[in-house]
Amino acid sequence: MRLLTFLIILVVPCLRAQEAPGLNEYMGREIARTMHWKGAEWLIRRVREQEEGPVRMREQLQVKPGMTVCDMGCGNGYHTLPLAEMVGEKGKVYAVDVQPEMIVMLKQNIERKKLKNIEPITGLCHDPKLPPDSCDMILLVDVYHEFSHPVQMLMSMRAALKKDGLLVLVEFRAEDDTVPIRPEHKMSKAQINKEMDANGFTLKREFDGLPWQHLMFFGKNGVK
Ligand SMILES: C[S@@+](CC[C@H](N)C(=O)[O-])C[C@H]1O[C@@H](n2cnc3c(N)ncnc32)[C@H](O)[C@@H]1O
Repeated sequence: MRLLTFLIILVVPCLRAQEAPGLNEYMGREIARTMHWKGAEWLIRRVREQEEGPVRMREQLQVKPGMTVCDMGCGNGYHTLPLAEMVGEKGKVYAVDVQPEMIVMLKQNIERKKLKNIEPITGLCHDPKLPPDSCDMILLVDVYHEFSHPVQMLMSMRAALKKDGLLVLVEFRAEDDTVPIRPEHKMSKAQINKEMDANGFTLKREFDGLPWQHLMFFGKNGVK
């Protein structure tokens, strides 16, 4: 009996600490491989403005000074730095990525701009390590389709959002064959809505004016 108790004490925390294996497919969608940090230059390519309209996208967010915003899957900080300016010195940006090399590049960019209101976080594939009830908005630009643990990530982000907080998805349009992106890196509105509905989120608004992407805002459902 003593031996059994000893084994339970030893083994259970190890099992809990272990990450559940990632998925290759979720709700009929192939999950894309994570973009490697060695390709980070692509995130700051000149033509990105023309292809994605990032300024117009950020205007649509309606981010205000003093807000707490998370740039989930921030990469080298292409959106993190402008977001930090939008929330101002009374606001805060959590910048989360699973690749430590991306976080190193992000920190260099923060240093260069001398910004003080960004907290970089090296997340886990199933846990972004965000404080509960902390964010007014969580922005995911070209990120959600890469999650190997979509259910766990959505659950954690739901817990990190304030009551009226918004989860914002920016995804390349799968419905549009003229968008020159690999199919597993694109999502249709129907697929996005299906996955969000299944995980406790409801569509609040959307913007259809970006060149290549959907921009969709989700709130937590069932929250009074
Ligand atoms: C295509 S890049 C987009 C980077 C950035 N959002 C941008 O628009 O420039 C996708 C990023 O998501 C990150 N990522 C993938 N899965 C993640 C997860 N579970 N949690 C946090 N970041 C993740 C990758 O490491 C990669 O840096």
